[in-house]
Amino acid sequence: MNQPSSTLLPSASLRIGDLAPDFEARSTVGPVQLSAYRGRWLILFSHPADFTPVCTTEFVALASEAAAFDTRDCALMALSVDSLFSHFAWLRMIRDRFGIEVRFPIVEDPTLVIGRAFGMVSAQDNDSATVRTTFFIDPGGVIRAMTCYPANLGRSVPEMLRILDGLQAIDAHGALAPANWQQGEPLLMAPTHDLDEVFAASDATSWFLRGMGGQD
Ligand code: BEZ
Repeated sequence: MNQPSSTLLPSASLRIGDLAPDFEARSTVGPVQLSAYRGRWLILFSHPADFTPVCTTEFVALASEAAAFDTRDCALMALSVDSLFSHFAWLRMIRDRFGIEVRFPIVEDPTLVIGRAFGMVSAQDNDSATVRTTFFIDPGGVIRAMTCYPANLGRSVPEMLRILDGLQAIDAHGALAPANWQQGEPLLMAPTHDLDEVFAASDATSWFLRGMGGQD
């Protein structure tokens, strides 16, 4: 399987709430199919290129925290335009230099079919490299959050975990996560849609800004 088997179409307009396009491709752990991850959370993320400084720090950081994603029942899957053998050589270098084995799959996408379908290729640059796009995909295969960073700014693993924790908490409690929310802190209740409750509320804000107590 040298080409991803799929009917992927280019898209720059994937949105939160869309079903993640399915694909099958070669990766560093063998063939992978996105839809095979249904039932678990999945973070699919692209990086500009193997053997580059920021990307190397991201992979060391992510592989070091692999257990934290696993505990949250979340798989990681990386992707770039580089070939499978480039991925292998880079992972070997990371293992030898940093003592970290990257065991989550890194997909090869030399034809950019997957990168274009997910809008991971910069529309502005004439460069074929994917940018640092991250998709948080829920167990139903739905895109629940996306981030996009430029090539020269590395992602924050604590923020990736915080986004995942927030999505899982709001699903579990039917609630809202406020600014700077961290796991274990109080969530917010959805505001009422009932005018009688608005007038009956004890003060001017408690009908729409109300906590739920501490949750995981
Ligand atoms: C980096 O990962 O360091 C990088 C990749 C592409 C362009 C610039 C920096």
